[in-house]
Amino acid sequence: MNAPNFTGGTVWTGDNLPVMRGMNSACVDLIYLDPPFNSNRTYEAPIGSKAAGAAFKDAWTPDDVDVHEHGELADRNPAACAVIEAARRAFGKGMQSYLIFMAVRLTEMHRVLRDTGSIYLHCDPTASHYLKLLMDGIFGHENFLNEVIWHYTGGGRSKRYFSRKHDIILLYTKGKTWTFNVDAVRVPYKDTSGYAKSGIVAKSGKRYTPHPDGTPVDSVWDIPIINPMAKERTGYPTQKPLALLERIIKASSHESDLVFDPFCGCATTLVAADRLRREWAGVDLSPLAIKLVDERIAKDRGLWGGVTALTEPPRRTDLGDPPNYRTHRHRLYGEQEGICTGCDTHFPFRVMEVDYVLPRSKGGTDHPDNLQLLCSGCNRSKGAAPGPNGGLCRTKPTHTATNEQAIFRDGASDI
Ligand SMILES: C[S@@+](CC[C@H](N)C(=O)[O-])C[C@H]1O[C@@H](n2cnc3c(N)ncnc32)[C@H](O)[C@@H]1O
Repeated sequence: MNAPNFTGGTVWTGDNLPVMRGMNSACVDLIYLDPPFNSNRTYEAPIGSKAAGAAFKDAWTPDDVDVHEHGELADRNPAACAVIEAARRAFGKGMQSYLIFMAVRLTEMHRVLRDTGSIYLHCDPTASHYLKLLMDGIFGHENFLNEVIWHYTGGGRSKRYFSRKHDIILLYTKGKTWTFNVDAVRVPYKDTSGYAKSGIVAKSGKRYTPHPDGTPVDSVWDIPIINPMAKERTGYPTQKPLALLERIIKASSHESDLVFDPFCGCATTLVAADRLRREWAGVDLSPLAIKLVDERIAKDRGLWGGVTALTEPPRRTDLGDPPNYRTHRHRLYGEQEGICTGCDTHFPFRVMEVDYVLPRSKGGTDHPDNLQLLCSGCNRSKGAAPGPNGGLCRTKPTHTATNEQAIFRDGASDI
């Protein structure tokens, strides 16, 4: 269990992947994410609403993912890769790209979640079945707790098929123990419930009486969508109701726990967490999101909301025990575009070897910033002969002076 390397009340504007990569491991108690659903639409806020100008694209092509993200997944999570490949065959490349985008981020979410933490992934039937498999691969099918159906009414009705009036929220835990505050989220008994009226007497003679706060909530939630006149409405496209987030946060966290929303939009999760006295942090790509977070939190707290707005990802402070350097091979290959850092020649992945820029003997770490790929020729010859190139077959230097000295003089191949 780690302390977070950022303060509660922080919102980053930017892509959540580098932000999560910079977060310490196991420092978050609860994650709720409401990412793009692969709906093949572009969402825009109505002109004149508080959120006017906010927009995000939810249509996916292979250009939307970095090639090294796919490679990194192959190293870190072969099960997720197999799911993505199956989705590509069944559905096509758009779904493949969307799932790669999701899988690299879900892998980071798994890392930053505490061992006792829970994650709620909000999606809809477009991709929920693929995302379920992805979550099984990343969080483990044994850690699947619930498929929550959020049922709502309103909007038009189809005459060609059953009207689509529900979203799906997949609930997973990270491990075998988790927070679940059943009494915090009880709902009233149905009017027709005989048990609610008079309780029940078991065969043993023991009498069970109805709970004053109602019955434990089941996995189908009837919560209205935000109506056009509701006070909480910001106009932000895809804004979720506070009541939905309040139920999730009350059920799966305690006061002072840290709640994280990597696709925080207009801050529904953050506002709900703040009202329930939880710590919180969020990220959103849209610069408009932070404006709405600020406004909504300030409205609740008074004049000065006190939100910390950042664009730079945090720097991990828990890298005492980083992952094995080999896990970065695919990522480095993508970043270097398959070119050996030593001789600037393109090589197939299989003959590229991971090299420490600053050798471990000199305090170099397994962090990706300190790693590069060399072709096996460069790696073997590195430092073998005296002279400016220290035995490397390079023709063109590509490092800073400091890094080059480390490579040329030490010859410390770590492969
Ligand atoms: C479905 S909306 C979230 C709505 C939010 N739950 C609310 O109630 O306002 C998805 C959000 O994800 C954001 N987004 C998309 N890609 C992102 C990325 N790579 N990093 C961070 N945010 C991203 C979009 O800007 C959008 O605000």
